[in-house]
Amino acid sequence: MQKIAVLTSGGDASGMNAAIRAVVRSAIYLKMQVYGVYQGFEGLIAGNLKEMTLGSVADIIHRGGTILQTSRSNLFMEEKGIEKAKKNLDELGIENLVVIGGNGSLKGGYEISRLGINVIGIPATIDNDIVYTRSIGYDTAVNTVLNAINHIRDTATSHGRVFIIEVMGRDCGEIALAAGVAGGAESILIPEIKTDLEQIIAKIKAGMNRGKLHSIIIVAEGVYPVMDLKNYILERTGQDTRITILGHIQRGGTPTAADRILASQMGKMAVDCIANGQKNLMIAGWDERLQTIPLGEVVNGSKTPELGMFELARVLSI
Ligand code: F6P
Repeated sequence: MQKIAVLTSGGDASGMNAAIRAVVRSAIYLKMQVYGVYQGFEGLIAGNLKEMTLGSVADIIHRGGTILQTSRSNLFMEEKGIEKAKKNLDELGIENLVVIGGNGSLKGGYEISRLGINVIGIPATIDNDIVYTRSIGYDTAVNTVLNAINHIRDTATSHGRVFIIEVMGRDCGEIALAAGVAGGAESILIPEIKTDLEQIIAKIKAGMNRGKLHSIIIVAEGVYPVMDLKNYILERTGQDTRITILGHIQRGGTPTAADRILASQMGKMAVDCIANGQKNLMIAGWDERLQTIPLGEVVNGSKTPELGMFELARVLSI
């Protein structure tokens, strides 16, 4: 009987539970034995594994976070940690590991695959910064941000204020871009495009000239200090400006249908790959267009966002 272990690692993302459920149910459907690893790679090193049943994944498809819990493991960066993890899998006779997580987690998976474990990656991070694929959790995060923009827009319009909304994304502007376009933001600041402060000011002034006092500016984290931006806007336009930093609210919440479906498809495909003897790859794509990419290619890749979206935002926010 083939044995599979499944873990979630790195920042949690809504839809991880749907992916765990799909892995466990598909494995049991194919008469495989499946183990859940608790607390990600830290748990793998500590030997924190438990066999999972159909019941272990009941009533979780709609829940955010991850029932297996997660960690950002420093121990797994070291040879010693990876070897200990491999030993724990060997002791239980587990040859296959499904890693659900972002770039750092897939890198961890790649490292243990070099010791002989067959690793299948499932991309899951709100940042959507993994090459060749949409990642689980991104759609939910974008919709959470969009909901926040809608709320803020009401008060911004009522008071005639400028609002700066800082969103997550690490080094990637995908959340900012998508939520900004969908939310009708006046300006969107992302790491991939050099910030043009004068353009922001020009837009606010153009709005004021035609009687529009409110303005929404989306800033991807780390791109520009939001306090400095607020002061600069005040100084140059005199406009009453407020800041909202959305933070970890973007990571939680019930997953959207799109994330649940993507997670379910990817989870099943990961198990099918194992059953077919395919090794060391990541499930990639979206909608019906799923494919497999060698893990080595994933960990050496770097994603370029769809800058067509930026052009779209630029034209529509004139
Ligand atoms: O990678 C997901 C993410 O939420 C990033 O957008 C953010 O920069 C980071 O994780 C925050 O990490 P932590 O939860 O460890 O503070």
